[in-house]
Amino acid sequence: MTKMIGSLLGVLLLLLGASVRAEVPDRRFDPINQTCRIFQFAQMREGARFFRGVCLRCHNATFDNGMRPMSVLIPRSFSPERWTRIFTEKYSLCAQNGSWKELSADDLLKLNDYLYRGGYGTWEDYTPLEC
Ligand code: HEC
Repeated sequence: MTKMIGSLLGVLLLLLGASVRAEVPDRRFDPINQTCRIFQFAQMREGARFFRGVCLRCHNATFDNGMRPMSVLIPRSFSPERWTRIFTEKYSLCAQNGSWKELSADDLLKLNDYLYRGGYGTWEDYTPLEC
């Protein structure tokens, strides 16, 4: 009986340890300006607003103009590193055809920050800090 309580306690401590170690990243390296961006509440909120206001207008599970189905984009759709690549290389069709042009370079950095922080795996794994 005491052995069972002991192992239960061990499992509990392990879980506790894991939850303490798993931290959501609070910064990222920005390859465009070669700077370290520390995430602050205001820029996260702005990024979320750009995401809803611009990106989700199309990436919203309806159809694009050519009637192709669009899947919903969420921060977890891509890993943090992939989000940075999406914003650094701007290779997607929408970036190429000017659908992002209402957002300034600074807006896009904030949007990248927001999506990086919520990217796939950041809430359940330990994401090493880039800077
Ligand atoms: C005017 C509509 C429109 C807007 C606004 C828009 N997109 Fe897109 N996006 C598209 C279309 C159309 C595609 C190509 C769809 C496909 O390839 O299935 C696409 C493709 C993408 C892809 C590539 C998906 C993949 O699977 O590789 C990413 C990433 C993306 N968009 C991100 C964004 C982000 C971030 C924003 C906001 C800044 C945004 N989009 C705004 C229409 C839009």
